[in-house]
Amino acid sequence: MTLYGVGLGPGEADLVTVRGKTVLETADVVYSPGRLSRSVALEHVDEDKIGDLDFPMTKDEDKLRRAWKAAAAEVAPEAKDGDVAFVTLGDPNVYSTFGHLRRTIDAFHPDVDLEIVPGVSAVTAFATAMGIEIEAGAGLALREAASGASPTGPDRMILFKVTDAPATHEGLVDAGYDVTYGRRLFMEQGETIVTDDPAEIDERDYYTLAYAEKGDLEVEPATAAFGTDDESGSDDATTDSEPIADGGRELTTEELAALERAEGYENGDYGLELEDRRERRRRGGDR
Ligand SMILES: C[S@@+](CC[C@H](N)C(=O)[O-])C[C@H]1O[C@@H](n2cnc3c(N)ncnc32)[C@H](O)[C@@H]1O
Repeated sequence: MTLYGVGLGPGEADLVTVRGKTVLETADVVYSPGRLSRSVALEHVDEDKIGDLDFPMTKDEDKLRRAWKAAAAEVAPEAKDGDVAFVTLGDPNVYSTFGHLRRTIDAFHPDVDLEIVPGVSAVTAFATAMGIEIEAGAGLALREAASGASPTGPDRMILFKVTDAPATHEGLVDAGYDVTYGRRLFMEQGETIVTDDPAEIDERDYYTLAYAEKGDLEVEPATAAFGTDDESGSDDATTDSEPIADGGRELTTEELAALERAEGYENGDYGLELEDRRERRRRGGDR
């Protein structure tokens, strides 16, 4: 039988994955490390299925290790007799408490089978919630900014644990960043706030993140020109054929074949694009 680490997503009940929901519904026990993850889990399972684990609010590493050892000792026998789930908000492998449980289980109960069900992480949910696009090719770094810290360096950062937004803001603005804050994004519990004014979120709330982008970044996607070149909405700005990647140049048959062979291009969006190109070729003849 199996211990499942299940990502619950950012908080709204219908952002749990279908697989995650199935695992929760079929598990014998569902453990949660905190009040918020417990309340999201309760949207999917009855309270009598919830197993509470006790985690001290401390940074003392000895105390934490003892707590995780005790948690693993409780969960492991249940996972040998049946299927159990351990839930975390977001994704179990992103800045998550599940990592501590997994390492402790690996160390002291290596015979327990373990599976992870990924969840919608704040790392991706923030973009939609805050109306931000991380365009193809852009770099994005993850950092923590607890207790007013202002990490700097990368062009774009997601900052977790923004517990003192005004102090964090000061350091980031001094270093040339534009910053947007998101609190309780896609969460049913508490008010969702998106703002670029740190004074609006000066009350400490652990479920706050920030997106910081260097103010002098020059981002010019090809499609940006639609807003200026072709305001009349006429078709003059495009040719008869649909827009094509690679600077608009059609690929030769050899290039197309090489792309098809290349690992990773066979599926996903690029696979669709290749299909598209083949179709255009069938319609318009080979060039
Ligand atoms: C320990 S990390 C957990 C991340 C989680 N495992 C994930 O994948 O989203 C906790 C931090 O994530 C951010 N966070 C998680 N969920 C959030 C949400 N719904 N809205 C805003 N921030 C969130 C906050 O910065 C919070 O301090």
